[in-house]
Amino acid sequence: MSRNMDTELDLDKMDLEQGPPQEEPRRQYYFMAKCRQYAKQLEEELGHRPTFFVQTFGCQMNARDSEKLTGILEQIGYVPAQDEQADFVVYNTCTVRENANQRVYGRLGKLHHYKKDNPHMRIALCGCMMQESHVVEKLKSSYGFVDIVFGTHNVYKLAELMADRQESGGMIVDIWPEADKIVEELPNRHKYAFKSGVNISFGCNNFCSYCIVPYVRGRERSRSPEDIVREIEKLSREGVVEIMLLGQNVNSYGKDLKSPMSFARLLTRIEKIEGIQRIRFMTSHPKDLSEELIAVMKASRKICRHLHLPVQSGSTRVLKAMNRKYTKEQYLELVERIRREIPDISLTTDIIVGFPGETWEDFEETLDVVRRARYDSAFTFLYSKRTGTLAASMENQVPEEEMKRRFDVLLEVVQRIGREMSSRFTGTVQEVLVEEVNAQDETLVTGRMGNNLLVHFPGDATLIGKLVPVRLEECKGFYYMGKKA
Ligand code: 5AD
Ligand code: SF4
Repeated sequence: MSRNMDTELDLDKMDLEQGPPQEEPRRQYYFMAKCRQYAKQLEEELGHRPTFFVQTFGCQMNARDSEKLTGILEQIGYVPAQDEQADFVVYNTCTVRENANQRVYGRLGKLHHYKKDNPHMRIALCGCMMQESHVVEKLKSSYGFVDIVFGTHNVYKLAELMADRQESGGMIVDIWPEADKIVEELPNRHKYAFKSGVNISFGCNNFCSYCIVPYVRGRERSRSPEDIVREIEKLSREGVVEIMLLGQNVNSYGKDLKSPMSFARLLTRIEKIEGIQRIRFMTSHPKDLSEELIAVMKASRKICRHLHLPVQSGSTRVLKAMNRKYTKEQYLELVERIRREIPDISLTTDIIVGFPGETWEDFEETLDVVRRARYDSAFTFLYSKRTGTLAASMENQVPEEEMKRRFDVLLEVVQRIGREMSSRFTGTVQEVLVEEVNAQDETLVTGRMGNNLLVHFPGDATLIGKLVPVRLEECKGFYYMGKKA
């Protein structure tokens, strides 16, 4: 039995008189035990088990952090609610683009309303947006009804912060500029029983000039391969068959370890774990994608034939200003090498339109890359100015109207090529991991191919979590209809 399970089982027997231990994760289990007592008192006052709701904004990293928060809340004895009318609400925020921030402020107004009706309600905010001091100042001055504010480096401390809030009565703010350590062996809840994200590294060292992530998630820190493997083995014992390895830049994994290790070698090690049938990973920075990785992917039975390879722009001049450290030609050459070695690979990407100084000619270079790389799909973004980044102070910011015009042109090309690429599997048999019974038609189940495309086919709930060979009969744009082969 893992250390995690031992500690979880002891929660009710824990001696709280002695005060909190210093070392982690024991300290957090102490606070979970303490919060459990508070939760029992609250249950008596409310007349029902206290409920929680975690709302995630942003990327897979945040989704993974939310699972950790959920795991802690469940340990404490809270039960999930359907919406924000809950006794404990967490917003796990994103700040990669400005509109994400605006949405959070907008929704806080609604929460304030709920809190007036339910004085027991507690509101916690965490995630990337909280790492910006101007946000925290604004919360302190205008959103006094918020109970707990914490950041990206101390997600594991939720129970301790909840206990602090209980004892202090006022807003608790705990933001760290950098992480002091990686805390392992905390409770965890993955949304699906059969697939889970696994962090392999935190933070980013690249400082792309438009991006706020290195400022809010700190320097890159890799987890030890032993910790990663132990977590995946545990997930496998719990019935997980697909894992998604998560890092801001998985290709630079392991460079900061005491005994450095490449991402490709980590993959080789993970491939051996019994029970795991599919391995995904995200995100790959083109500048660090190695020959070794291509070779490992090619030889692997478990690694999905999918690479998310953000290009950001097709113009070498813009790429330089973005500090991406590759040229248009180098990127296209990389794509060609990957396709040569792994012909059935699906490529996806991220593209930013309207970076400061981008001309129409630069933009046409981006269209050119899209046409040549032939992505299965692409996330397209309007450039958003993030205070504190290098690009925010650059001249020649592109006017909103012009950005939108380019965005629409790009979207059309991306979608046309995406549809063409997606349909290339028509008539073939592909392994589909079944996720759920179709919400619209319960004679169908819905699952995903290795390249992440959705497939609907006749079946029932017994197939959930299983890999099923499916003949793809018809492509409907970005999903398939099929039949069990
Ligand atoms: N404006 C627009 N898009 C951005 N991204 C990151 N920062 C910005 C920004 N300031 C996009 C990038 C990245 C994705 C996660 O978000 O394309 O790959
Ligand atoms: Fe941001 Fe660049 Fe790091 Fe990605 S690699 S998180 S875009 S700084």
